[in-house]
Amino acid sequence: MFDGALSAASELYRGSREILQDTYVPSRLPHREHQVQQVAEVLAPLLRGERSSNLLIYGKIGTGKTAVVSQVRTELLRHAAAKGRVVAVSINCANIDAPYSLLQTVGNELATKEADRIPTGWSLDRVQAQLRALLDGRGGTVLLVLDEIDRLVRKSGDGVLYTLSQINTELQKGRVVLVGISNDLKFTDQLDARVRSRLHEEKILFPPYDAPQLQDILRDRALQVFRDGVVEAGVIERCASYAALENGDARRAISLLRLAAETAERERSRRITQDHVVKAKNRFDLDLVLECVRSLPPHCKVLLYAILQGYERRRGGVLTGEVYEGYTKLAQKLSLPPLHPRSISNYVLELESLGLIQANVVSRGRGGRTREIFVEVPVSETMRALEDDELLKAFARPRFLSQTVLTNFDNPNRSGPNYG
Ligand SMILES: Nc1ncnc2c1ncn2[C@@H]1O[C@H](COP(=O)(O)OP(=O)(O)OP(=O)(O)O)[C@@H](O)[C@H]1O
Ligand SMILES: [Mg+2]
Repeated sequence: MFDGALSAASELYRGSREILQDTYVPSRLPHREHQVQQVAEVLAPLLRGERSSNLLIYGKIGTGKTAVVSQVRTELLRHAAAKGRVVAVSINCANIDAPYSLLQTVGNELATKEADRIPTGWSLDRVQAQLRALLDGRGGTVLLVLDEIDRLVRKSGDGVLYTLSQINTELQKGRVVLVGISNDLKFTDQLDARVRSRLHEEKILFPPYDAPQLQDILRDRALQVFRDGVVEAGVIERCASYAALENGDARRAISLLRLAAETAERERSRRITQDHVVKAKNRFDLDLVLECVRSLPPHCKVLLYAILQGYERRRGGVLTGEVYEGYTKLAQKLSLPPLHPRSISNYVLELESLGLIQANVVSRGRGGRTREIFVEVPVSETMRALEDDELLKAFARPRFLSQTVLTNFDNPNRSGPNYG
């Protein structure tokens, strides 16, 4: 059953496909040499047994922040190994739901004996005291990397950063150096001034990659993964230019190349062509749209569904009045108390700001104005995604196997989606 697909696949790849996954950290990071050097310089005093400054790293998504810090950390630990002076603890704050669990995770990374571990359910004071005991017990420096630190602050405020940033004043033998990584450039505005100045001892900005830089990054990966001659001319350039247009995100560029290769495999092609990249991009965009749609609040989903129904019926723009009627009918069928028209207008604005729809003001003679709404996303796939939702599943229509995923983004007026 799989023979054909497997042999086509093995004709494309020379190395492991893992190399195109998000989790893979390459040993070479083109166009980040300067940032690697900057981070290394800030942390170098640790190798001399001195305290280094705390460091904050900023930059948009996919600009290599995590990869650079992870590379410097590995090198630093390799150099420090002989002296055993430095340990590193890296935590992705996206996985941390409360201050307690952050302190607990740090403590338990340091605990060498079962008896020293921090269980759940202690008071915060007791956890802090145990953490101090563990840090002093170990001595030397703990390099604490807090990736996606902005998420921590958004979820639970800056209290725990206050604790960590002033813990050195309460330690006898141990010390902590903080490296925060954030893709929200403004998150420090939300910090208490003392926390901000302690975290900010050094800061480094990671700029987005431009298209030629993304091409170099992609070429490196392609050389490792694909056999000679598999990647047709123009493929790398196209992946790079799509990603450069949208924030200069290396993750996105690499994902496009991976998806293009998967598309080629499915088509049993021996080459990856520009056409595969275009198909991959449509699929990628659609995945983003559907993810965005699934995360909308319930009334917004119903409203979007009403817009899509109207759009499908009319095969074109729908007026606000019609949308409101459609929405009210759906809300009644679902026994939801319908929203006030003003709230609906706000939701229309929200859907527009997410790039899912476009609402143009049209005049209706004698000073009357209304808005005509165009859908900016593939209609049937989006409707199906909404019908998969518990809330709207009663409206699900029959599905056909032959329905293709890559349908029309069919509004000629569309200015391009922005899914953030
Ligand atoms: N200069 C580079 N050379 C090679 N690969 C890179 C480079 N920069 C980033 N990458 C790759 O791109 C992907 C995203 O990089 P990384 O995770 O470091 O970005 P980030 O800035 O931490 O993004 P986020 O803010 O979303 O966490 C990873 O797979 C990484 O290996
Ligand atoms: Mg990261």
